[in-house]
Amino acid sequence: MELVFKNFFLFLSKNKVLNKSAKRWGLKFGASQVVAGETIESAIAKVKQLNAKGLVCTVDHLGEFVFNREEAIEATEYCIKTLDAIYSASVNCNLSLKMTQLGLDIDEQLCLENMKRILDTAKKYNNFVRIDIEDYAHCQVTLDLFKKLNEEYKGHVGTAVQGYLYRANDDIENLNGVNLRLVKGAYKEAAEVAYQDKQEVDKNYVKIIKQHLLNGSYTAIASHDHDIINEIKRFCKENNISNNQFEFQMLYGFRTELQEQIAKEGYNMRIYVPYGNDWYGYFMRRLAERPQNVAFALRGFFSK
Ligand code: FDA
Repeated sequence: MELVFKNFFLFLSKNKVLNKSAKRWGLKFGASQVVAGETIESAIAKVKQLNAKGLVCTVDHLGEFVFNREEAIEATEYCIKTLDAIYSASVNCNLSLKMTQLGLDIDEQLCLENMKRILDTAKKYNNFVRIDIEDYAHCQVTLDLFKKLNEEYKGHVGTAVQGYLYRANDDIENLNGVNLRLVKGAYKEAAEVAYQDKQEVDKNYVKIIKQHLLNGSYTAIASHDHDIINEIKRFCKENNISNNQFEFQMLYGFRTELQEQIAKEGYNMRIYVPYGNDWYGYFMRRLAERPQNVAFALRGFFSK
């Protein structure tokens, strides 16, 4: 049943008509509980509240799978404005983005130029930009562009690796020394490229986290899975890995008590704060992750 749910919401997440309509609906179906508003001002207000609780943030101006140049340039401007707003508000926050939002499917060169404009701004403010990893079809090209950017903007740019992909272990070795966010993976991928069984995904996920930590590289462990979080805390203690070499990350609106508890224990805890009107794909992937999230969305639907 869980798999049927998952596939249904992942299928919906790619529906372009619903995605377009959702931009006009405003935040619906409980999305406002996991998306920090439609404007940068609302996102910054949420970041301030989180910072006050000892949580650092990464803000994402939602958007993906952009197919014309104007939209890609508009998305780039939004990323720059977001970095400006973070700087002006003096909040402890960096930026996350998706390359398909910046024109990756239109023209790689356009995407690279857009990324450079964003990274010039991040460098000016001594801030950092995390490139999310999307579906498998975009994985290699994203890493290729990341490597080019990392030569010029080292320390200001990082990316992510998905534990469900068979290639993850090789990617970790190839990206030794890079500040990486490690995730289980949120897209529907074929058995040719990705583990399908949850236990196998979890096992490989823990393996790549330990691999990257032991390589001495900065590691962002992005998961709501308390068992895995506890295992990594133990592993770091046993191997004398300093708290400065890693951080935990969770999504805005999920497991808020656990987020605060981890920060109180003295770990770096970063919250991924999405905002904007292009919330549909992001929200559908969250519904696909856990059937309980559907109940959460329905509650939001009936209470609005
Ligand atoms: P998972 O869904 O596997 O759940 C494991 C267990 O944790 C559950 O059985 C339950 O016990 C507990 N649990 C989980 N959520 C809970 C909740 N809300 N309440 C109570 N218990 C809960 N993906 C991607 O492909 N590319 C990317 O760039 C990113 N980026 C990213 C950033 C950040 C900050 C996060 C947190 C996640 C991503 N992801 C991502 C998504 C990621 O790949 C993955 O799909 C989700 O994090 C879900 O996997 P988890 O490890 O969180 O728990």
